[in-house]
Amino acid sequence: KHPVLVAPSLLAANFLELGKEVDMVNRSEADWFHLDVMDGRFVPNISYGLPVIAQIRKKAQKPCDVHLMIEEPEKYAADFKKAGADILTVHFEACIHLHRNIQQIKGLGMKAGVALNPHTPVGMLENVIRDIDVVLIMSVNPGFGGQTFIEQTYQKIRQLRQLITDNHAHALIEVDGGIGTDNAGQLIQAGANVLVAGSAIFSSADPEKTIHALKTSAQ
Ligand code: DX5
Ligand code: ZN
Repeated sequence: KHPVLVAPSLLAANFLELGKEVDMVNRSEADWFHLDVMDGRFVPNISYGLPVIAQIRKKAQKPCDVHLMIEEPEKYAADFKKAGADILTVHFEACIHLHRNIQQIKGLGMKAGVALNPHTPVGMLENVIRDIDVVLIMSVNPGFGGQTFIEQTYQKIRQLRQLITDNHAHALIEVDGGIGTDNAGQLIQAGANVLVAGSAIFSSADPEKTIHALKTSAQ
């Protein structure tokens, strides 16, 4: 059995109590902070950006996993490094020179992630899979929290697991969108390593307990 990593998405946090939310994640069994950046161009929504992430980073005691849903991410990679990103994930669909962007992120000293929209086949990563630290499979269309999980995701996870094995690659499989205690077990069983959850955690009565439930969902 592989370890299950849990990455709470702060998009669903109470921004007026952001410090308390960060403390909660620090105290919990969560592994990473998942931070969603939206530019209103690549996705039809705008979230938060560099100054907010820099503040979160000062208090966060766990790696910060920054999910860029922006066009031309190469223009901002150095800025996100400065803000404290540990893992920087760019969208396949936003990169004309994906290989170059991956090398740029690693050259800056961060782990490199590549995210796939629901319609993008995992096979598109065949020629870069060995260069990537994390593949982020979107299980909803990016842009908003609280959407319904897309069932086709299970098959994509299995296909990606096969691609990783066939290429002797080491990338972690992260899944993002519509994840909760109801589907976490099945996602791990399909081959996922990292579960991102926003509303399931922050809208629950006891977020720490929900994180524990997600963390132990493979058992
Ligand atoms: C969606 C973001 C997700 C989002 C997940 O575009 O990438 O990280 O916060 O939210 P839930 O878990 O509510 O679907
Ligand atoms: Zn995300």
